[in-house]
Amino acid sequence: MPRYSITTFGCQMNVHDSERMHDVLRRAGYTEAGGPDEADVLVLNTCSVREKAEQKLRSEVGRLARWKREGEGRVVVVAGCVAQQEGERLLKQMRTIDVVVGPDNIPELPGLLGDLALGGLPVARTVFDLDAPRFLVASPPPASRAAPTAFVTIMKGCDERCSFCIVPHTRGPERYRPSDEIVAEIAALVSAGTREVTLLGQTVNSYSDPLGALPRAPGASADDPDESEFAALLRRVAADVPGLARLRYTSPHPRHLTPSLILAHAELAVLPRHVHLPVQSGSDRVLRRMIRRYTRAEYVARTRALVEAVPGLTLSTDIIVGFPGETEDDFAATLSLVREVGFKGLFGFKYSRRPHTPALKLPDDVPEGLKGERLARLFEASEALLAAHLSGLVGTTQEVLVEGRDKERGHGGQGGALWSGRTGRHEIAHIEGAAELDLLGEVVEVSIARANKHSLQAELTEAARAAARPRQRGAAEPRPARRSLPVVAAEGG
Ligand code: 5AD
Repeated sequence: MPRYSITTFGCQMNVHDSERMHDVLRRAGYTEAGGPDEADVLVLNTCSVREKAEQKLRSEVGRLARWKREGEGRVVVVAGCVAQQEGERLLKQMRTIDVVVGPDNIPELPGLLGDLALGGLPVARTVFDLDAPRFLVASPPPASRAAPTAFVTIMKGCDERCSFCIVPHTRGPERYRPSDEIVAEIAALVSAGTREVTLLGQTVNSYSDPLGALPRAPGASADDPDESEFAALLRRVAADVPGLARLRYTSPHPRHLTPSLILAHAELAVLPRHVHLPVQSGSDRVLRRMIRRYTRAEYVARTRALVEAVPGLTLSTDIIVGFPGETEDDFAATLSLVREVGFKGLFGFKYSRRPHTPALKLPDDVPEGLKGERLARLFEASEALLAAHLSGLVGTTQEVLVEGRDKERGHGGQGGALWSGRTGRHEIAHIEGAAELDLLGEVVEVSIARANKHSLQAELTEAARAAARPRQRGAAEPRPARRSLPVVAAEGG
């Protein structure tokens, strides 16, 4: 049986697409290799949203030329956004690549590999499924315990035209998944053991049900152009899948943080008290040039209304520094917004010119060194906010959804902890002194003992300890969660 290995770059959507490729390949008779060296087929699932991500692909493919020579019949597949963006050109530029497959063409991958094995030529398939959008569904093997957290795609593509962003080009126009399918997938995951679902989409909260089957959500106004059916979908999931412990979503667009969504947050206990809401800049002048379609004041008013409706809710965000024409005053406005909103997490990036984007018309005039300096100042501000927030939690009681064992999740058992997970507000918590217990997938009550730089050290409360299951040798292991948690609270783009 041929063996495959997948390397994933980029966002949660890519992580999710990689999961779908695992399923498609397994169903076609492939098995997963222990690592690239043991594989016959190597898939690179690529990202082109920022320059660095794309450079990574180029250097990776360079290294693979040797890998290919060392084993007969070895095949290199490039998937994801660079595949979609470059298509055939990749085959011409890099002879090492055999198959280029776009995100909408994942189901065709086994067929393409089959043709190649029969002597076919290198091939590129990058066609959007505009007429009949396909949303591939994960199919957990029946006997296994599902991972505690899972992603469910509800829409793909993007109709915004943010001037810096390549996504409309690489992922195409918005297409939405029928609400019945979404609910059915979540229900199946929950009955297999999943506790938390994150709804995925490039502008996840612009959702509209192609079935037209959702009743209007409370608070939704018919004549608000920013209104969508996202709140209605959240309400349906909450009502139809009562076993779900947490329902998250990423990434929403601030434009669609409408009164109906705020009301859903106030009323649905399943929505945790954290929202990641990319703002990109705190300067109205820059926001206009970015074509973000909201002002700083609108962003602040909407997030303020959300926090008023859900006391204690925390926000995190994405910010680009050094966008064309960004002055010191513009950047100062971004810093002041970060403090005004009090973000508890922040992904920061240096602007980079992306092919096919409207901002190519603007000169990339902020020097690289200045971009780096601004990024460092941005991180300094956000780290201070996070540190104050985390240390303020010491001594409190929190509910943590245990996602796995620390070592397997690359955290190396911080502070001697074995288990780790997330609080409702998405803070990472390492649980100490629970080695003899089986906490996987449980929502447990902990008290916070200490704050680390980006996470918390916690101990089970007496009640949680008394209620926990002892760990059994040879107990059914969960499916390894392939999800890579955002390891960085802040990333240099
Ligand atoms: N340059 C820098 N950062 C970018 N992002 C998207 N496009 C660019 C670009 N051209 C960032 C945005 C977005 C995140 C996923 O990546 O902050 O929210």
